[in-house]
Amino acid sequence: DLPARVRIHEVGARDGLQNEKAVVPTEVKAEFIHRLAASGLTTVEATSFVHPKWVPQLADAEDLFPRLADIGGVALPVLVPNERGLDRALALGARRIAVFGSATETFAARNLNRTVDESLAMFEPVVARAKADKVHVRGYLSMCFGDPWEGPVPVHQVVRVAKALMDLGCDELSLGDTIGVATPGHVQTLLSELNEEGVRTDTIGVHFHDTYGQALSNTLAALQHGVTTVDASAGGLGGCPYAKSATGNLATEDLVWMLEGLGIETGVDLDALTATSVWLAEQLGRPSPSRTVRALSVR
Ligand code: HMG
Ligand code: MG
Repeated sequence: DLPARVRIHEVGARDGLQNEKAVVPTEVKAEFIHRLAASGLTTVEATSFVHPKWVPQLADAEDLFPRLADIGGVALPVLVPNERGLDRALALGARRIAVFGSATETFAARNLNRTVDESLAMFEPVVARAKADKVHVRGYLSMCFGDPWEGPVPVHQVVRVAKALMDLGCDELSLGDTIGVATPGHVQTLLSELNEEGVRTDTIGVHFHDTYGQALSNTLAALQHGVTTVDASAGGLGGCPYAKSATGNLATEDLVWMLEGLGIETGVDLDALTATSVWLAEQLGRPSPSRTVRALSVR
């Protein structure tokens, strides 16, 4: 059975813009996020409080986040790798954070300058302090299916780190197919294994990149398994600066088109969202890679 409603966790302003070669002006980011919220998205990831040298595209987080204060009723999570990032986010009143771990050692080293276990130790006080403050915590887990340096990633390796993130106290887990190599059978195998190990499906979201064109099929496989939180990025923006071969995320418009066809509610106004992606593509100077954006905007 498919769910009646899906919550879309919009990541375009973070996962999308972190990967742009050009630095997008802060006022454009602020307008982008306002427009995403106005299109009916209820969770719009805003930015990252990471080291500005590691992700220069998001170095304006202190300037951007206060510009979003007038957005009511929409969750605006931010990425936080360590206590320094948490201090920065809490100082601006952030109420939702995300830590981001890796299922593989190579990516943990490249993305966080830590081993997998060292990064979990780095997250521990972050999650503990956030929970004490009643701040909602998402735990991202990258390289759940394949890793560009290590190849296919064994399911048990993913399950170990997923459980460790939940044991730290994360409220939800997002399973990242960082480089977009997952296929639907692999998705269902991982979800079943996580359930068997006690990670509940209602705490799991899926985060697919569309490198091999499998993101929608993978999403449908996850929905059939009972998942109701799906990450996507407006216009299919995205990638990861520390993972070669990662292309854009599943495009939010492609996701909404499929969900509407299945009679699944999202609350998103597809025309308003498409117009936003067309507008942003003009700002970036190149067309959106989303098939749905192209189909709906060439009329
Ligand atoms: P490090 O070099 O090991 O940092 O980097 P450190 O702990 O040794 O600290 C060195 C200096 O950095 C210190 O300053 C710290 O204060 C400062 P000093 O005392 O020398 O003057 N510092 C900071 N400054 C500002 N904000 C901070 C911060 N932390 C330390 N938060 C670190 C470790 C984690 C900081 C670094 O590796 C980093 O920032 N990494 C972020 C990488 C990133 O953002 N990647 C993209 C997001 S993940 C992703 O896209 C995947 C996802 O979409 C899911 C999927 O697709 O799989 C989520
Ligand atoms: Mg990602």
